[in-house]
Amino acid sequence: MSTNNNWWKGAVLYEIYPRSFKDNNGDGTGDLKGIIEKLEYVAALGVDGIWITPFFKSPMKDGGYDVASYRDVDPIFGDMDDFVALRTRAHELGLKVMIDLVLCHTSNEHIWFKESRQNKTNQKHDWYYWADAKEDGTPPNNWLAYFGGSAWHWDTRRQQYYLASFSKEQPSLNLWNREVKDAILDTAKFWIDLKVDGFRLDAVQQILPDIQLRDNPVRESHHPTDLDIDISNPFAKQWREYSQTQKKEVLEFIREFRNMADTHGDIALLAEAGGDNSLEDTIFYAQGKDRFHLSYCYGFTYMDITKENVERTIEKFESRMGDSWMCWAMGSHDAPRIVSRFPQQDPATQKDRACLGIALALSLRGSYCMYQGEELGLEQANVAYEDMQDIFGLMFYPEFKGRDGCRTPIPWERDAHNAGFSAEGKPWLPVYEPHHKWAVDAQEEDPTSVLHFARAFLACRKNTPALKFGDIGILETPDNIIAFTRSDATTTLLCVFNAGDAEVKWGIPGSFQPLDTVPRNNCAIKDNGVILAPYGFCILKLVK
Ligand code: BGC
Repeated sequence: MSTNNNWWKGAVLYEIYPRSFKDNNGDGTGDLKGIIEKLEYVAALGVDGIWITPFFKSPMKDGGYDVASYRDVDPIFGDMDDFVALRTRAHELGLKVMIDLVLCHTSNEHIWFKESRQNKTNQKHDWYYWADAKEDGTPPNNWLAYFGGSAWHWDTRRQQYYLASFSKEQPSLNLWNREVKDAILDTAKFWIDLKVDGFRLDAVQQILPDIQLRDNPVRESHHPTDLDIDISNPFAKQWREYSQTQKKEVLEFIREFRNMADTHGDIALLAEAGGDNSLEDTIFYAQGKDRFHLSYCYGFTYMDITKENVERTIEKFESRMGDSWMCWAMGSHDAPRIVSRFPQQDPATQKDRACLGIALALSLRGSYCMYQGEELGLEQANVAYEDMQDIFGLMFYPEFKGRDGCRTPIPWERDAHNAGFSAEGKPWLPVYEPHHKWAVDAQEEDPTSVLHFARAFLACRKNTPALKFGDIGILETPDNIIAFTRSDATTTLLCVFNAGDAEVKWGIPGSFQPLDTVPRNNCAIKDNGVILAPYGFCILKLVK
């Protein structure tokens, strides 16, 4: 029975991309033992849990999001004993463990797909979307894939097209089929029995496309912060009305999933949902008591960090959110690192931009996913074409360079070979040379480092309920100042940020004092006003 602690509400999860976190066996690829090695570091940050991106058996065409077996650990990451040891150690350290469940597609090497493509009559013939070619041999409709081109691929054996919304190696599972739904729910139960605390459900906007396969309509315009794909991608030119999840029809499955999770303990279901209107779509999946518990929110992950964009995103979400619960993120294994998304990129301000990002993120109402390296203030890495691994980037290079730049290995030791990520091997993606100086050991020694700041801010958020749960209200401000209040029954906080590279002054509306438990940065408080240096910020408390 559910204990219903709702541990996920207001929680901070640390996102681990295992390939790049820590290589324990020296083969150049991060692994589960590497994660175990660094779990104390993660726990000491003060986060509530970890989310580990896929470590299951996979040909790694899409960084593990092409799963060939849901119940096996890929040998590059270790084995099931390693996972159990990892989970046990994480729990000892008080960390919840969430894993990714990729439910809208498998790898084309998954046994289900291998069977499905044999002929039109086998037991799994309709576990994927198969359709005949049009009379002229072209695909059944105009649906496009995230990673470029048609979402339909010709299978020579079945002499039919199959649907794959990302790469052709990721055929879409047909979740209209009862057996497929059960197979996915059984997969979740398998991991629940292994005592995971929740799932990040991958790309739920793609789990139930239109069964009639109707053509998508043309999309003429968009606001850049509403898109979950790069505009160089032709996909941006369609409304995905039919190729994405049919909302009315998906509710029953979501309910079933939620029921299953709630009857198995305090399992959190975190839906990753993009879509045509990514803000609205994100909210949809976590509304009410019988949908997913929370939605992973793209709101901030791709946009430039400017006053206008930040305010617009918060306002849009807050005005529509209702009773849904967001899990914000400023970065991820898919998105350019936050410090590299400010309009001005003076290297001298990198530390301040990083701290501002952390403070802003942790001052939002909701839960939060902190992507590995964000606590170090790492910038987006430049990865040379010949080193690139990401299927997405290789497709759209050079206009869009893909996701390798946020996936390079974590620098643990400034002066060590491979910055201490891998003792011997050639890392699967090169360690980015400028990251050496941001290495963990260097930051440990410097009390003014981003790492120390991140720990301090995380600690203060933990002890300040108004920051996690309080209402949020944006204030009108001049220049590049972003200001909002966070208030609950007992406390009103004023959070003020300077998103620009020039000093700003602002008269505070009311009687506020600095909240001493919260670190501030480059902010002076004088005569009922604040003076914020570039990227400075402070959190104040209303004096009653
Ligand atoms: C993951 C991506 C992945 C895609 C397809 C996502 O949204 O975060 O890394 O490529 O789903 O599974």
